[in-house]
Amino acid sequence: MADSDRAPPGLLRSVSIFAELDDAAAAGLERLARRRSYAEGEVILSEADRGDALYVLVRGKVKVVLYGESGREVILSIFKEPGDFLGEMSLLDDEPRSATVMAVAPSTLVVLSRADFRTHLARHPKVAIQVMTELSRRLRRADAVIGDLALLDVLGRLAVRLRDLALAEGEPTAEGRVLRQRPSQAEIAAMIGTSRETVSRALSELARRGDVVLTGKRLLVRHRLLRRD
Ligand code: CMP
Repeated sequence: MADSDRAPPGLLRSVSIFAELDDAAAAGLERLARRRSYAEGEVILSEADRGDALYVLVRGKVKVVLYGESGREVILSIFKEPGDFLGEMSLLDDEPRSATVMAVAPSTLVVLSRADFRTHLARHPKVAIQVMTELSRRLRRADAVIGDLALLDVLGRLAVRLRDLALAEGEPTAEGRVLRQRPSQAEIAAMIGTSRETVSRALSELARRGDVVLTGKRLLVRHRLLRRD
């Protein structure tokens, strides 16, 4: 951790779960929150640690990961939108951290203690509903990933993941959607539960079929792949 200070004014109001607070409640919460910065590669939360705080992303990019015994990594999710929050699960169920959260770019987060988060939820039912809404969204996404792992082969999982990434982040062009900074093959492998070598072969196959075009870090996902169910 490089620094620790107060949350910037107005920040928590920009976070979806705190958006409906009135001015006094938002200011009260901001007085309690602390800001922390992390370098790329720094661990923010560690799986199995006791959880004692909620983290809200101010800037940067973090990944939620599990590590196998061999050290192999599975990426459960990536968060990069200001206001994305992490660490709520341990605060709600009093169990240890369910996964490790690591900065994948220099990142700043606001930290709220367990006691302050819980008091806040109890006083503001709308905030509790927002948290539940976000948990449902994450569970739906996890369900989709479980379904893909069980029902699709690697080529299918890669196609679905590239389509989702392109629809979420790609720039629309006449030919499809372009990701200017596609994830590395190792990152994609950790997202779809396979090895980097297998991703390399599957990417070549999608390129051979004309579903994608790879040019350095740039990846074009063609309309035919975007449309496929
Ligand atoms: P917690 O278990 O306290 O610490 C790890 C955090 O990672 C967890 O809270 C969630 O905020 C987040 N997390 C765990 N699993 C997922 C998932 N499948 N999708 C998105 N976020 C997750």
